[in-house]
Amino acid sequence: MTDQPAFYDDLAGCLAEAWRRLEEGAAHQSGFHAPALATIGRDGAPRLRTVVLRGVDRASRTLRVHCDARSDKAAEIAADPRVALHVYDAAAKIQVRIEGRASLHGQDALARAAWAASRPLSRVCYGTVPGPGTPLPAGGAYALPEDAAAGEAGFAEFRVVVLTAARLDFLYLARQGHRRALFRWDGEAPAATWLAP
Ligand SMILES: Cc1cc2nc3c(=O)[nH]c(=O)nc-3n(C[C@H](O)[C@H](O)[C@H](O)COP(=O)(O)O)c2cc1C
Repeated sequence: MTDQPAFYDDLAGCLAEAWRRLEEGAAHQSGFHAPALATIGRDGAPRLRTVVLRGVDRASRTLRVHCDARSDKAAEIAADPRVALHVYDAAAKIQVRIEGRASLHGQDALARAAWAASRPLSRVCYGTVPGPGTPLPAGGAYALPEDAAAGEAGFAEFRVVVLTAARLDFLYLARQGHRRALFRWDGEAPAATWLAP
């Protein structure tokens, strides 16, 4: 059959393709740039929101996103580190779902490095007053730091979320037959298997 990608019948290739797409999403705007991150709400119900992928390291199976310490997601991760991440790139016809645990970093070396590498425009968000999720009397009844210097104060609220993947579910949609593969690192040894799509 023609037009099959190299990873089509190659389990290790599917995993490599998933990480390659995630790395690409962290590096620049692509179909993998803004996945959905799921946490467990304080009431046990799932909570979901879009986040920007800021960094990916396939060797440690970690993905990095940034958030505000005052946000619901930060509180939810602090209370229960189990998270999931979902992304679907319609152009690539690839869905990746990751389950794992997240850790929150603030005021440490990791947070300082991520803050230093982020653009002033992104830093300003962490100086929002009142904090994210606070009810407002009107849509515009909140303030952002006036300038970049004032924006530096936002570092106090800046948090890096590091998600370590325990499972990765890869799905490729193809006319000639979909391909789905599951990769696990939550057992004694890494495991990989094809799944019925
Ligand atoms: C394209 C896009 C990218 C976003 N990126 C982030 C992000 O990287 N970090 C973040 O905390 N919120 C981001 N948001 C906002 C979240 O989706 C969410 O609305 C907000 O963080 C509040 O979520 P929470 O109350 O569950 O914590 C983004 C929203 C959109 C639409």
